Amino acid sequence: PTDPLVVFTPSGKRGRFAVGTPVLTAARQLGVDLDSVCGGRGICSKCQITPSYGEFPKHGVTVAADALSDWNAVEERYDQKRGLKPGRRLGCQATVQGDIVIDVPPESQVHKQVVRKAASARVIQMDPATRLYFVEVDEPDMHEPTGDLERLKRALSEQWQIDDIRADLTLLSKLQPALRKGKFQVTVALHKSHRDAVATVIEIWPGLHESGLYGLAIDLGSTTVAAHLTDLETGEVKASSGIMNPQIRFGEDLMSRVSYAMMNPGGDREMTAAVRDAINTLSVEIAAEAGIDPTLIIELVFVCNPVMHHLLLGIDPVELGQAPFALATSDSISMLARELDLPAVNTRARTYILPCIAGHVGADCAAVALSEEPGKSEDLALIIDVGTNAEILLGDRHSVLACSSPTGPAFEGAQISSGQRAAPGAIEAIRIDPVTKEPRFRVIGCDLWSDEDGFAEATATTGITGICGSGIIEAVAEMRMAGLLDDSGLIGSAEQTGTARSVPEGRTHSYLIIDASAEGGPRITVTQGDIRAIQLAKSALYAGARLLMDSRNVDKVDRVVLAGAFGAHISPLHAMVLGMIPDVPLDKVTSAGNAAGTGARIALCNIAARAEIERVVRQITKVETAIEPKFQEHFVAANAIPHKTDPFPELAR
Ligand code: FES
Repeated sequence: PTDPLVVFTPSGKRGRFAVGTPVLTAARQLGVDLDSVCGGRGICSKCQITPSYGEFPKHGVTVAADALSDWNAVEERYDQKRGLKPGRRLGCQATVQGDIVIDVPPESQVHKQVVRKAASARVIQMDPATRLYFVEVDEPDMHEPTGDLERLKRALSEQWQIDDIRADLTLLSKLQPALRKGKFQVTVALHKSHRDAVATVIEIWPGLHESGLYGLAIDLGSTTVAAHLTDLETGEVKASSGIMNPQIRFGEDLMSRVSYAMMNPGGDREMTAAVRDAINTLSVEIAAEAGIDPTLIIELVFVCNPVMHHLLLGIDPVELGQAPFALATSDSISMLARELDLPAVNTRARTYILPCIAGHVGADCAAVALSEEPGKSEDLALIIDVGTNAEILLGDRHSVLACSSPTGPAFEGAQISSGQRAAPGAIEAIRIDPVTKEPRFRVIGCDLWSDEDGFAEATATTGITGICGSGIIEAVAEMRMAGLLDDSGLIGSAEQTGTARSVPEGRTHSYLIIDASAEGGPRITVTQGDIRAIQLAKSALYAGARLLMDSRNVDKVDRVVLAGAFGAHISPLHAMVLGMIPDVPLDKVTSAGNAAGTGARIALCNIAARAEIERVVRQITKVETAIEPKFQEHFVAANAIPHKTDPFPELAR
């Protein structure tokens, strides 16, 4: 008689196995993705499977009720102690007795697919650099004088077929107590990244370690430091949190921080210490929020712009402040977290910093490329990560180009007379009636008096503190559409515009949104200076995009993706009326959310993605806006609203 046929779903892998073969063994032999931390000892429950009974014409099998062995003592004990879900079995204990169809549920797969939170439904495939392994180590023996580490290595080789292992020196002091406390049964965390030839034991726990392993994906921005605490086994984000970048006290934007380093001996070291301190605080806070011990954070991935990159690493950023903008290194960096003075996380935690693209285009842009994959796009995509500097990618499967453009902080509400960061009290959206010229607006965190689409009349003033980046963009575009502004960006007088909301201010005019100053309330206007600041920012952004389009020899793109937290709040129509982005059908403008943060999460969860982004970055063509004479030309032409010469046919529709 032939051996029973075993069919695994959803992979469809199949093979014949002798009666009595454990399901886990069959899965391994067929290369089926079935997890195990305890190596088949019936204690980790990672190997759970669901047998299916009945007729399966598609697979050519009929499965009898006794096609798997009955529960054995180990499975009984596990079920009594922890409970198995109905229909589930432990793959390492259940053995094959007849033809069988076995489903591997998603949580039992090593390479789980994690759906990303971002707008696109792409998934992150789990393949982290650090994994847990449970082993039984031989006890020391007078007749066989080997060290504990050597016996641990032998156990890993015999029980997990992992050879070539080394241990961090600092681990050795934990090894002996852990082995003895666990009665020579221990769980180790083995780290092996895409560039490592050997695996390194970076943590050890007595017995079976069940409190999980975690990683931090950190988007180190010049204004905020944001982190996602991620479960390295499931890919689940356990907590997300942010903190202000304390370097702000040394300078609002990147160049002022570089100048601070130039002007003050030791200034770079002060900024390095400040940001490392903030990361440490953030690690403690985020671990507390998720209710985990911060020493279980075993991996960190950073994405950041080149100046932040250098300051994080303790490298003086002065070279980045002057042509030719040389980076100390553009390569990715793998190191120990403790080399970055991060004592809150595990002392042997590993850090990976994505590669930089060029002196002005950092690892944050590389992370956007990893998340948005312009190099795999069938159509030509323009991806803009809007911040103090805009990082811009243009590409499709033929080629990808990148540049950064110095938009300045106006898009974030800075250098705007009533500007503020996007926080409660900020006007984030505005509509101006083209006939009456009266404004209605929406305020973050304030729906006391707004109508159903969230907009309030200008008579309401409670709790309003200013106007944030998306609010000012909408205000300028709405003013243009309501005829309050001409195409050169000049605000008309009350006579010219027919509204008393145009108020003289010096030799220019301002548009009055709210004036409750008589009652001690806010007075919020859009001044001529604000319009100029927005014009400079949007011209820089548009000129950067045009420069890439020139290099690619095109005068149109197929779609625009706005990335970054701010990008998520920009209205495509207003961005186009303003001439921030090139003309494209409005339904072809999408938001990717925090694409840099998503890129960091991908690199945290999947080591192949690290190799991929390193390869992709080498192939990206860098365009340096600072030295391209055409940039200036594009910049000047883009000053008009929407543009002096470029047509915007989609706006006419
Ligand atoms: Fe651990 Fe089955 S492999 S319980």
